[in-house]
Amino acid sequence: MAALDTALPPPGARPDWTIDQRWSSYDSAEHGVWTTLYERQLGVLPGRACDAFLKGLDALDLHRGGIPDFERINPELQRLTGWRVVAVPGLVPDAVFFDHLANRRFPAGQFIRTPDQLDYLSEPDIFHDVFGHVPMLTDPTFADYMQAYGEGGLRAQGLNQLHHLARLYWYTVEFGLMQAPEGLRIYGAGIVSSRAESVFCLEDPSPNRLGFDLERVMRTLYRIDDFQQVYFVISSIEALRKVTLQDFGPIYGRLAGAPDIAIDAVLPTDRVLTHGSQAYARSRIGRTPVTA
Ligand code: PHE
Ligand code: CO
Repeated sequence: MAALDTALPPPGARPDWTIDQRWSSYDSAEHGVWTTLYERQLGVLPGRACDAFLKGLDALDLHRGGIPDFERINPELQRLTGWRVVAVPGLVPDAVFFDHLANRRFPAGQFIRTPDQLDYLSEPDIFHDVFGHVPMLTDPTFADYMQAYGEGGLRAQGLNQLHHLARLYWYTVEFGLMQAPEGLRIYGAGIVSSRAESVFCLEDPSPNRLGFDLERVMRTLYRIDDFQQVYFVISSIEALRKVTLQDFGPIYGRLAGAPDIAIDAVLPTDRVLTHGSQAYARSRIGRTPVTA
């Protein structure tokens, strides 16, 4: 989500770490990477991504002409929810990231991955940030949640509680699932921007799928190097917004005495939708999970 907090913006970036997108500087190979990724995701997301995401993609017409020009999409995004996208060179310090969110600005990486990185890259690029995150920002309830998260992030930093709050971001904004009337649906940006995980998270018998519980989520480690071993399922965006409206002060107090929960744990108190086999994770022998 964010880099070291002491860092200064790189040369050419503004004090808030933003840069010009310079849309006309993308070459046809870079637009081609966007279009390839876009078409791959359109092959898997209908029936898997939630309605709010698919509606947002349409509303912003994100496929037109390859990599989107922020000057084209921002007027519509601002009209819908007051959000806009700003370009940054890459990961930004936590406090900078939270300040952007608290002001309804989503910082998006300006660069796009190379053709040999279609399936995985470690830093978020413009495809992950814009295709993955921005459609959900057209939903008014999710838009409010993201702004509140930014405010909550600044507060958590002051209380030394970022490790707990970051897990909430991970298991909702990045890897969240939602229960729709028709079945489980994806809303997390880390999933919708990955072809393989878009299928894995819903259909593979390996991962646990558990009902969302705020404190449980904030205690759960996550892995940053492979498919998740657990997904948490919210009942609606409104339910997520409502439960996170409460003052986290007392929660942080309780969490101080509560141990972290392992990525593959299923507890007696969990609402279990899938008790996963963990077969996929076990098949990745020699790979010790990298967790946070
Ligand atoms: N309610 C949280 C607090 O009191 C702020 C927050 C809102 C955090 C939404 C995350 C998401 O700190
Ligand atoms: Co992301």
